[in-house]
Amino acid sequence: MTSPLHTERHLVIVLGATGDLMRRKLLPVLHELTEAGASYHLLAVARSKDLNDDSYRQQAVEALVEFGRLTDEQATTWAAANVSYGSIGTGTAADYRALRARIEQVERDRGLPGNRIFYLSLPPETFPKTISGLGEAGLNRSGSGWTRLVVEKPFGTDLATAQALNDLVHRHFDETQVYRIDHYLGKETVQNLVAFRFGNAIFESLWNRDRIQSVEITVAESLGVEKRAGYYDQAGALRDMMQNHLTQLLTLTAMEVPARFDARAIRHEKEKVLRSIVPYSPDDVVFGQYGAGEIDSQPVPAYREEQGVAPNSHTETFVAMHLRINNWRWQGVPFFLRTGKRLPQRQSKIVVTFRRAPVAMFGFNDEAVMSNRLVIRLQPEEGFELDFGAKAPGDRFVLKRQRLQFAYKDAYGELPDAYQTLLYDVMQGDQTLFVHADEVESSWRLYAPLLEEPPPLLPYAAGTWGPEAAQALLRR
Ligand code: BG6
Repeated sequence: MTSPLHTERHLVIVLGATGDLMRRKLLPVLHELTEAGASYHLLAVARSKDLNDDSYRQQAVEALVEFGRLTDEQATTWAAANVSYGSIGTGTAADYRALRARIEQVERDRGLPGNRIFYLSLPPETFPKTISGLGEAGLNRSGSGWTRLVVEKPFGTDLATAQALNDLVHRHFDETQVYRIDHYLGKETVQNLVAFRFGNAIFESLWNRDRIQSVEITVAESLGVEKRAGYYDQAGALRDMMQNHLTQLLTLTAMEVPARFDARAIRHEKEKVLRSIVPYSPDDVVFGQYGAGEIDSQPVPAYREEQGVAPNSHTETFVAMHLRINNWRWQGVPFFLRTGKRLPQRQSKIVVTFRRAPVAMFGFNDEAVMSNRLVIRLQPEEGFELDFGAKAPGDRFVLKRQRLQFAYKDAYGELPDAYQTLLYDVMQGDQTLFVHADEVESSWRLYAPLLEEPPPLLPYAAGTWGPEAAQALLRR
């Protein structure tokens, strides 16, 4: 974001303002957005009735110094000018009415026109109560401006809960007001997938079953559950990563050319992909859970020994899947998706393997050389690589694999945080990078058979690429 940002003046109301996401991500990003020119005031809302503007600002300053790399003075100046505090108590109807009064008061004091963003930075089990609370207090509309609602993931825990949550949201808010976050969509490299496909005619003309042999999508993490065992042990890798982040990568990779580059057209094309996926069989899925192992020569305990994990937990920390998309573009092309914790390295990428040349003019001495590969690296070392075969110098005609490469950091330096991109889009009212109600339901529908009847849980050692059966799935 190099040119100054333009937004209508508004109030950002973050519910859950003393939580981890606010401290680590939202406050630093909100500060960046002010610096870049966005025009808003922040009303931080939490349960505590003991906090006030001054004491909350002090907390915000500490977070900005720790996570936003600001000096104490910079953070203090920003917080004094831009941050207020409001309490939601235990969330009774009276508490929501008091919140409404507080919002109106801040708007009057700051001369704001009534444009509002409500950001639910809350544990998912509190979403329904909060959405109803806002709606019943009349905070779903503002008399004089727009109102937008931002909902963090996970949106539901299965199809039924996602449908119920959508119904509740729609009872109070119109879909055009709702911004369901999947932070992967805010990553520059993920957006660039669309630019890459539809801005470069050479690739799009090859992007089909005639030219592509397989597509592999990997989101690997070397970290474990860290301090989130309470949530993760309930969720598992399917809910935590596959249903949202990997599914988004899949739909962006596979979707048809949208009629326009806008939210409606893009979400429609993504949803069509989900509806074209054919039912998978048990052979197409591998669930794993890590045991003790080593990463970067450091010992790593088994998942069941992590703090907060049930000692007999059956939660999957690894999922690999083979999916087939039954449409004209992709019929017969296998899509492999895999994600896991405690894998050897943090690595997210999409690997597109093209079909071999139809005639082996130089001999298919090396499969890797003969199949061109496009690697879209999402993290780390964001960029693209295209592998191709080139003749090695010498008398004999021997091809060696060579690589064309583009690295973001060489061209652009540091990339903006995904949350910064997404929050700015909310401020502008652009829903393109947010998940539509239908899309979230289709995605849960796709994984419903696995939630109802999970496959056997296979062990893998921390620091390996998952259970052997997953490697076999990929080789297949
Ligand atoms: C979150 C998951 O949505 O994404 C985490 O809940 C995961 O478990 C994280 O670690 C990965 O995000 P990123 O941006 O680090 O790849």
